[in-house]
Amino acid sequence: MQTDLANLRTADAAAIARGGEIIRAGGLVAFPTETVYGLGADATNDHAVASIFAAKGRPQFNPLIVHVPDIAAAEAIVNFTPLARKLAAAFWPGALTLVLPRKTQNLSLLVSAGLDTVAVRVPSGAVAQRLLRAAATPIAAPSANVSGRTSPTLASHVAEEFGETIDLILDDGAATLGLESTIIGFDGEQPVLLRLGAMAREDIEKIAGTLAAPGAKITSPGQLVNHYAPRAALRLNARDVKPGEALLAFGAHVPEGARVTSNLSATGDEKEAAANLFAMLRELDSSGAQSIAVMPVPERGLGEAINDRLRRAAAPRT
Ligand code: TXA
Ligand code: MG
Repeated sequence: MQTDLANLRTADAAAIARGGEIIRAGGLVAFPTETVYGLGADATNDHAVASIFAAKGRPQFNPLIVHVPDIAAAEAIVNFTPLARKLAAAFWPGALTLVLPRKTQNLSLLVSAGLDTVAVRVPSGAVAQRLLRAAATPIAAPSANVSGRTSPTLASHVAEEFGETIDLILDDGAATLGLESTIIGFDGEQPVLLRLGAMAREDIEKIAGTLAAPGAKITSPGQLVNHYAPRAALRLNARDVKPGEALLAFGAHVPEGARVTSNLSATGDEKEAAANLFAMLRELDSSGAQSIAVMPVPERGLGEAINDRLRRAAAPRT
């Protein structure tokens, strides 16, 4: 693991101020949010946004989330509906992304990859908030991983992915939630669940009513089946371990015989499991096992989003 990089800095006041300067100058800064680490650039600068795509090796049709410090800054970028405003008031700052019609001409068109909507989020993470204020411009940031790999929840994950090819990595320890934001779009006033994530569906539905599934009209281009893929194969709903397998456990009853075991949550807590998911997948993947057996995680609360990520990670590679 590379952690002695010149561009890897503890996210203190000086490093965050430097991050703001780099963003304004068109550079790339990886920074922690409460969900996962993001790879940020000035969302109003086409060249800066293009260098995110280049660094990630991301398909150009996959649009990015624009991060802003508060609702007022979001209102300058997109047109809110009454329901969107209600959701923003309830959940921002936080792990909810809203996809709304683009308003300003000031944003890079590359950010939304040709769509007439923009995904916006006000993150609650303290470092993300301070970086946004230091940069004084909206920050486009996908998860700070190479396209198709698991999202980083530690600065060292970002360092593994990008080394010194990006300008700065701000280190603030583990991302507290560990799962990407939940993404909601709108078909008129009908809210549509575009991506399961760190904000549980039940909590959003208390305010928005039942969330529709993505249909023909509105989809999330990034939700390709092959996402979040470790190198090892994943065997889901495992209740035992086969020879040579690594084990991703959940709960108190853990089968024996794995070459290495990580437990998402020994107490069976889905929130703890979400926070551990990506870091543990990476650990087990780097153990060299060809297969990772994954114990069942119940479909309640954040379990729904965890299972979504696990199914994607287990899907056959194309
Ligand atoms: O928690 C998060 O959301 C993290 C942190 C860094 O904020 N970011 C993140 O970004 O997960 P990314 O790029 O890995 O995922 C963004 C998702 C993609 O699936 C993309 O297709 C979708 O957001 N998206 C972005 N703009 C969209 C739009 N205008 N319409 C529909 N989907 C959009
Ligand atoms: Mg991502």
